[in-house]
Amino acid sequence: MDLIDSHAHLDFRPFNRDREAVIRRAREVGLVAIVNIGTSLASSRASVALAQRYDFIYAAVGIHPHDAKTVDQAALDELRELARHPKVVAIGETGLDYYRDLSPRAAQRRAFQDQLELAAELGLPVVVHSRDAHADVLAALKGWEGAGVLHTYAAGPERLDEVMAMGWTIGLSGPVTYGRAKGLREVARRVPLDRLLVETDCPYLTPEPHRGGRNEPAYVTLVAAQVAEARGAPLAEVARRTTENTRRLFGLPGLRQTVD
Ligand code: NI
Repeated sequence: MDLIDSHAHLDFRPFNRDREAVIRRAREVGLVAIVNIGTSLASSRASVALAQRYDFIYAAVGIHPHDAKTVDQAALDELRELARHPKVVAIGETGLDYYRDLSPRAAQRRAFQDQLELAAELGLPVVVHSRDAHADVLAALKGWEGAGVLHTYAAGPERLDEVMAMGWTIGLSGPVTYGRAKGLREVARRVPLDRLLVETDCPYLTPEPHRGGRNEPAYVTLVAAQVAEARGAPLAEVARRTTENTRRLFGLPGLRQTVD
């Protein structure tokens, strides 16, 4: 069974001691690709380095809304330069986070717009983070022509139709396995299967039954299994379709074809 973790942060510190072993486990459970997502210039550089080192790892380069205040012309120029690497498949993560507000909201909106423009210029999709900012995120995306994913989708079943009508894809992660997340399981049930990616957002958002511990790409199987259960669909089908979707959105080359 082929699966892709469409959103990982393997460059983060919690993996410093055993990154190799974590990546090996991901291969052992059948992951055919991991997209490692940059959150700062340093993290974007590290993502590209990981993609260079491992054939099945790809990179997105971008600056997270938490760090939006660091986005200036020099930062955008470096992202543009990093994005020339053939294994860079997206710009992100970018977006808006009004929950933690670690950068001023005006700076977040400007950095988001700047990265949307960069993605359009480069013809790359965008990985979008949206937390307690869904109205502003959707408004920004409506004024923009490109494609992308709303990662760790948290805008609820009530906005799903609107997001689908905009032509967007969503990513589901560990929280879909949490006992109280009825809304996310409704999203998992209703989302068209050609518009869904699965992801871990590791080291965060660890799915059940590992909640409380560190997350890692191998656990994307638990996310896919929960989606399959919510839909009453075979896990193999959810795996195959989400893998196809991830390949299509990010233009991932050279993954092996399998029959299931
Ligand atoms: Ni993330």
